[in-house]
Amino acid sequence: MLNKKTIDDINVKGKRVLVRCDFNVPLIDGKITDETRLTAELPTLQKLINDGGRLILCSHMGKPKGEPVPTLSLAPVAKRLSELLGKEVVFAADREVVGENAKAAVAAMKDGDVVLLENTRYRVEETKNGEEFAKELASLCDVFVNDAFGTAHRAHASNVGVTKYVDTCVVGYLMEKEINFLGNAVDHPKRPFVAILGGAKVSSKLSVIENLLDKVDTLIIGGGMSYTFSFAQGGKVGKSLLEKDFAEYALKMIKKAEEKGVNFLLPVDTLAADDFSNDANTMIVKAGEIPDDYEGVDIGPETMKVYADALKDAKTIVWNGPMGVFEMPNFAKGTESIAEAMAASDAITIIGGGDSAAAVNQMGFGDKMTHISTGGGASLEFLEGKELPGVAAADDK
Ligand code: 3PG
Repeated sequence: MLNKKTIDDINVKGKRVLVRCDFNVPLIDGKITDETRLTAELPTLQKLINDGGRLILCSHMGKPKGEPVPTLSLAPVAKRLSELLGKEVVFAADREVVGENAKAAVAAMKDGDVVLLENTRYRVEETKNGEEFAKELASLCDVFVNDAFGTAHRAHASNVGVTKYVDTCVVGYLMEKEINFLGNAVDHPKRPFVAILGGAKVSSKLSVIENLLDKVDTLIIGGGMSYTFSFAQGGKVGKSLLEKDFAEYALKMIKKAEEKGVNFLLPVDTLAADDFSNDANTMIVKAGEIPDDYEGVDIGPETMKVYADALKDAKTIVWNGPMGVFEMPNFAKGTESIAEAMAASDAITIIGGGDSAAAVNQMGFGDKMTHISTGGGASLEFLEGKELPGVAAADDK
């Protein structure tokens, strides 16, 4: 369980409360296309408003690299958040984030008011955890609440640096919920515990595979990274994604699984395509028998059966990374079959953020899962067993 102070441990009445949120939501032409991260933040905000805090919200959006990029302004978030909260969210549109607008808006606040600052990454110091910017943010508030789980794996000025200059630093409900769900699943799992890892690259999942092999009963591998495993075992992978440099690592992991008695499942067949396009010609081939001019784009039907079977008796399932190129409908069946099997299961089902969360929601299984993380990179680093700097910086209980 999380051993950090939370918003239940403090009194915010009449206090200026800086809340670091992760409002890094997908935007198309100024419209928010997935507002999961906004709705996930509401319980914390509502509680602080009800308790009479004066809320100053901040977040990054995209990667503007220290420049005020208008398409990455948080203005659309302020508008939508006003609707969701049913009260005005004053947007402080300062290029320098903590500027005249922000200072004036904060000075005019009454208990329960809400102000949103501009994209913290408009400041070049943000991602460098720069002291000056951290101090400026701290100067606006009496109390700091970090609820940005999605950013907890970063040590930036607005989630870590700022805590040096504020006496009371706690976490919000979203952070608490994320850490408790992921932490319990990994450290106190109901068994059998099955983890499913997919996605493009082995290289981005090295530590997570290694860490999970110490904890799970079954580890299922799919997606682009499975071709490196197949190649390592002497298979032919055609034009598939391949990281030759990690072939040795792949073999090491297969050996480690054997030593640990972990059931390590790799695809037994593959949907292969002659082009990286939804309309490509396709064929089902045995794993490791992909023709030279074809590439693997999804797990095959036999694999789907084997994987669904492996999930049947599980009591805890953690999933991170799609099984194929699910953005293309013809290559989405493998990913969908995992989502379906998880939805039908009685196990505790946890979806790491990012692509797998998008896939589950897109396929309509979102409300069937126990927990869908709002953090992609953050949940992955958590599953690697790393301490997240954004969490570490909060006051201990
Ligand atoms: C995310 O979307 O994973 C978080 O908001 C962190 O964003 P970043 O990868 O740009 O730091």
